[in-house]
Amino acid sequence: MTSVVAQFPEFRDRCVLVTGGGSGIGAAIVEGFARQGAKVSFIDIAEAESRELAMRLSRDSEHPVHFFKADLRNIGAIRQTVDAVVAQSGPITVLVNNAAWDDRHDFDTVTEEYWDNNQATNLRHVFFTAQAVAPSMRAAGGGAIINMSSIAFLLNMPDFPAYSTAKAAVIGLTKSLAGKLGPDNIRVNCILPGMIVTERQMKLWLTEDGIAQTIKRQCLKKVLHGDAIVGPCLFLASDCAAAVTAQSLIVDGGIF
Ligand SMILES: NC(=O)c1ccc[n+]([C@@H]2O[C@H](COP(=O)([O-])OP(=O)(O)OC[C@H]3O[C@@H](n4cnc5c(N)ncnc54)[C@H](O)[C@@H]3O)[C@@H](O)[C@H]2O)c1
Repeated sequence: MTSVVAQFPEFRDRCVLVTGGGSGIGAAIVEGFARQGAKVSFIDIAEAESRELAMRLSRDSEHPVHFFKADLRNIGAIRQTVDAVVAQSGPITVLVNNAAWDDRHDFDTVTEEYWDNNQATNLRHVFFTAQAVAPSMRAAGGGAIINMSSIAFLLNMPDFPAYSTAKAAVIGLTKSLAGKLGPDNIRVNCILPGMIVTERQMKLWLTEDGIAQTIKRQCLKKVLHGDAIVGPCLFLASDCAAAVTAQSLIVDGGIF
């Protein structure tokens, strides 16, 4: 449940699309925009938890929250889903490219297939979802795209070279898209989360000791959850950030 209370009236009745909105940070972002009175749709591959989230949020949001099941590795499916979202809710003016999969992988055994699948999961769809949404934003007179990168690639972490490569590339892509789409009043920025404790992170990778070690390296001595990313995301999508584009915002509690 998000703890963000700030209100941005410009989001009311506007169509927002979030990728990977079924769990973790994406779910917090979906909820954050739903609480602003926006018409929120999200794409995810995980059916059960996404349906549950959409149902739960629809109960007390101004507009129903729509879940679209699609695999973002399939570019045709992205295009079809974007068309369906626009047909249902109107032009998309905010896109949050959040989906990713931070699988650990071993340098010595990564195959070409693994590498390509990893880039398709963590990078390729960021471009193609932006490409699919851009006509809608142009027709609406502008929009905001927020891409999710990570601090992981800044920290020389050995366990996910393919993921780190994709997350570094998201920054380059953000800057290039900002240059291309700026004349259409479409702003493109990116967020680099630090250690954000989610259910999946706890199940797969994080330990209490690991969390404590990271908190020692944060200026802010507290555990960060998905809602830590919601405020920065709302800000970057909002009119408060009307002159902010091509930027990267680190949200990690100040890791040193
Ligand atoms: N949690 C962290 O500590 C952390 C740190 C840095 C960056 N990030 C970034 O923040 C974003 C969200 O992270 P999270 O921890 O909430 O991740 P998560 O794994 O909990 O959620 C990602 C969502 O994307 C969906 N997804 C994955 N592959 C998909 C596909 N092919 N098609 C459709 N949906 C797909 C998953 O089902 C899931 O709901 C990611 O971009 C991640 O790289 C997270």
